[in-house]
Amino acid sequence: MAEGQSLLMRKTLLVITGASQGYGECLAKTFAQRLPSGSACLLLSRKPAKVEEIRTENMEAFYEKFDQSNFAECGRLFIQGMMDKNGIKLADYEQTMIIHNSGVLGDLTKFAWEMEDKDMVANVINVNITGMILLNSALMQCCEDAGQKNISIINISTLAAVMPLPSCSLYCASKAARDMYLQVLAKERSWVRVLNWAPGPLDTEMMVSCRQCADDELRQSYIEMHEKKTLLTCSQSAEKLMLLLERNTFKSGEHIDYYDVKE
Ligand SMILES: NC(=O)c1ccc[n+]([C@@H]2O[C@H](COP(=O)([O-])OP(=O)(O)OC[C@H]3O[C@@H](n4cnc5c(N)ncnc54)[C@H](OP(=O)(O)O)[C@@H]3O)[C@@H](O)[C@H]2O)c1
Repeated sequence: MAEGQSLLMRKTLLVITGASQGYGECLAKTFAQRLPSGSACLLLSRKPAKVEEIRTENMEAFYEKFDQSNFAECGRLFIQGMMDKNGIKLADYEQTMIIHNSGVLGDLTKFAWEMEDKDMVANVINVNITGMILLNSALMQCCEDAGQKNISIINISTLAAVMPLPSCSLYCASKAARDMYLQVLAKERSWVRVLNWAPGPLDTEMMVSCRQCADDELRQSYIEMHEKKTLLTCSQSAEKLMLLLERNTFKSGEHIDYYDVKE
């Protein structure tokens, strides 16, 4: 896709992970209003009953149960099977857009030197890094097989990927790794548009855990944002992302924060 040409103009197959709630759900609804007719979305979630309730206006939606910590489900065979089962043919679309939205915080009540719970550590790495990478590879290979060259990858990143936040060590480390993986991919595949998008502080379930983090100063700042109602709504953030995708002037692989985008 040529830089400067809107990424929202082509008939798209949109894939969103963690689509059942929060930002993922909002992105599904927002894209449904923006993408041209004939576009479709594949909404992935561990909670199919919840995700099936999401209304995507006139955009056809496919719903599949998906757990990013289950590597078998992130693999090529499983993903191709999912497409076949739903009758999704990538070649029917002018573009494939992958939104890596799924993400977990880990235990924010612990500092970096207190990371002893191997299951919790593994889950953060598995969901935020390994599963995401495997899924990304599977989807890109499906695109390659289908001759689909127009691929856009949007990683829902965070300020924490570029700023060390006390008591958020695993989250920061895993999100930084995810950004860098996609920066490398952007260099390897010049025709793929890659964006590491930090959506700003959102009023979602994730923020409830942030308000319980171990670091006093950070916890206080999250509590204050909540009390003073300065958190962003998911829609506010999604609209800024749409602007960025419409302009499509970002450097592939770039990390861009909500507050960096001027209207
Ligand atoms: N809230 C913020 O202030 C903020 C700020 C910057 C970045 N972000 C990023 O925005 C993204 C969405 O977060 P949110 O704020 O909407 O929080 P959220 O409501 O907690 O959503 C997190 C999503 O991650 C998915 N997820 C968790 N474990 C998963 C697993 N094992 N397999 C697949 N999906 C899994 C969940 O999907 P299902 O339950 O549907 O499976 C859920 O929808 C995250 O990547 C987060 O890091 C959030």
